[in-house]
Amino acid sequence: MNIILLGPPGAGKGTQARRLVEEKGMEQLSTGDMLREARTSGTEMGEKVAAVMDAGQLVTDEIVIGLIEEKIKTGNPAGYIFDGFPRTLPQADALAELLSRNGAQLEAVIEIAVDDEALVDRISGRFTCGDCGEVYHDTTKPTQQEGVCDHCAGVNLKRRADDNADSLRTRLMEYYKKTSPLLGYYYANGDLKSVDGLQNIDVVAKEIEAALS
Ligand code: AP5
Repeated sequence: MNIILLGPPGAGKGTQARRLVEEKGMEQLSTGDMLREARTSGTEMGEKVAAVMDAGQLVTDEIVIGLIEEKIKTGNPAGYIFDGFPRTLPQADALAELLSRNGAQLEAVIEIAVDDEALVDRISGRFTCGDCGEVYHDTTKPTQQEGVCDHCAGVNLKRRADDNADSLRTRLMEYYKKTSPLLGYYYANGDLKSVDGLQNIDVVAKEIEAALS
């Protein structure tokens, strides 16, 4: 099963994608994670994307489509969770083409709907384990032991460079201008399902599960 998790920055896409990986064995393809990895690799592409990401703008379609193309070449029998991709109409068209070239198809697009006020709180309280990628929040999902990841016991907890008020404003603007039109696109295709992302993490996970069954 191949699905897209669609929603504004901080909606909970990464959090829910990790749950689906654990529960269904699907593979999470987060273009944000791939780009963060690229920027630390010292490559020319990494240097190019770092400034764009910190400013909260979108990286070019060409770069992100190339990243996804590389990943899905090998195929995954349990399917992919596209997290943060596609983000523009050309990316959506490219994904449809890539899946069909690999004999696969998209089963569902899940919109995680969250209002802007909640997003500011989520982004400002977020921290992540640099070793295993587990996502936490200062109040809604703290670690059990301060400074130690519940998932892998690593002590490399960090905050993202683009999780600040200026960058978030730009990220939201980019979302409304370039990504939210995808809701209409997938609705018209008959693929769109929406869940209320303002509920707690477990309830959102249950609603996604129901939407997929
Ligand atoms: P990316 O990494 O994709 O960031 P994003 O879309 O802005 O999404 P986030 O990762 O910020 O949020 P999320 O929805 O995953 O929420 P999370 O689960 O972490 O992209 C970063 C940048 O890379 C972009 O700005 C762009 O520059 C570039 N980029 C990436 N993909 C691109 C593409 N396709 N094209 C072009 N450029 C691209 O949760 C957030 C917080 O809330 C956490 O603390 C979590 O614990 C908490 N939380 C989650 N769910 C709940 C809940 N239900 N209740 C309470 N708290 C919750």
